[in-house]
Amino acid sequence: MSRAAFPENFVWGVSTSAYQIEGANVADGRGPSIWDTFSDSQTACDHYHRYTEDVGLLKDLGVTAYRFSVSWPRVVPGGSGRVNAAGLDFYEKLVDELLGAGITPYATLYHWDLPQALEDEGGWAVRDTARHFADYARVVHDRLGDRVDTWFTLNEPWVAAFLGYGSGIHAPGRTSPADAFRSAHHLLLAHGLATGALRAAGASKVGLILNFGPVMTPGQVGDLSMELAEEDAEAVARIDTLMHRQFLEPVLRGAYPADLLPLVERTAGLDHIHEGDLADISRPIDLLGVNYYAPTVVQAQPSQPADPAYPGSAGILFCTVPTAVTAMGWPIVPNALPLLLRRLSREYPDTQLMITENGADFVDVITGDGIHDVDRINFIEEHLRALRVSIEEGARVGGYLLWSLLDCLEWADGYQRKFGVYHVDFATQRRRPKDSAYWFRDVIKRNGLAE
Ligand code: NOJ
Repeated sequence: MSRAAFPENFVWGVSTSAYQIEGANVADGRGPSIWDTFSDSQTACDHYHRYTEDVGLLKDLGVTAYRFSVSWPRVVPGGSGRVNAAGLDFYEKLVDELLGAGITPYATLYHWDLPQALEDEGGWAVRDTARHFADYARVVHDRLGDRVDTWFTLNEPWVAAFLGYGSGIHAPGRTSPADAFRSAHHLLLAHGLATGALRAAGASKVGLILNFGPVMTPGQVGDLSMELAEEDAEAVARIDTLMHRQFLEPVLRGAYPADLLPLVERTAGLDHIHEGDLADISRPIDLLGVNYYAPTVVQAQPSQPADPAYPGSAGILFCTVPTAVTAMGWPIVPNALPLLLRRLSREYPDTQLMITENGADFVDVITGDGIHDVDRINFIEEHLRALRVSIEEGARVGGYLLWSLLDCLEWADGYQRKFGVYHVDFATQRRRPKDSAYWFRDVIKRNGLAE
């Protein structure tokens, strides 16, 4: 295999999520989600009405897989109980359109749009939500299971728990460190119960998607092999535990990390963790989805109060670094990807991996002859080169899904963020390929980068 080519059967695709593209938030019996309440109902890319056109774009790109998410309130408007057949009809039509185009559908069951009715009963901070999620997973599988092979239970549960219930910058906008820890546990339980329900229903592949921001000090951003002072090493390890090991260890090893439990106990008590939960949470998975955008940069600073997104992080400063950044302000560090994949391969050698998101927000300029998004192309190319190195080293990465197909609704940041390889004019809903779309199409066609 040449240095630019990827393995045979490598999966090339793009990812999206329901709330960020679908719009049609009151159409055909859909119930409200916490994001409708938090930031008013949005039309987004009106994908609900334009999915055939969007599958056409996927076809033009030549992707072999497409990861979308199913909107829980579209399928079960009240979160539990009555099923809305019209909601399932939409995903059935989408899946059939994809299959007709030769594209493998990957369904994510939870990409942050919790039914508002469940939030009114306590949201992820209460245990019942996990049970309702497993019931909903079963309902979706009953309709689509004969056509969808690969199921992701949750997307980025850390974000849902700690930005939704800790810092409050995401829906539902709550700021309770105790509820953030409880939510994390209930999301894990939801994953485990849904995995059991999907398996019982005959699902062939079940996975979970986590956000990874490899934790390092400012000095390490420049020199990854740099030795750390003891207090900085402790800061790095603590954030890594809160952000990554809190989720990895229960799912892949059946136990919470020993250094996490005292932080949870001090903040939330441990009553919400019931006997038997870890057995449910650690049911075997087939695939771990890796979302990677940027490292998390920290250093020890004794007087620093805890960051609300990381309860238990007192004494740790989150740093900005003088490296190139995307328009989000996220440092561009492609070399952190092999570091991350090496670590996952070493610690969880039996786990099959897939890059389920990677991509970049840059300001785009529309010119008379197109959208020349060189920065985005460079970002993706550097990350693919880094990924290629990891695969050469033996990392078990079966695919790369780019974020994202379309410019879309970036949660609390709204429409200003541009991650798409297709530009969307939100006044007209016209889609236009950026240079990155043509470039990515060529990568897919040659199954690798140009030499
Ligand atoms: C991860 C999330 O899954 C996705 O919804 C979001 O748009 C991207 N990161 C970019 O922030």
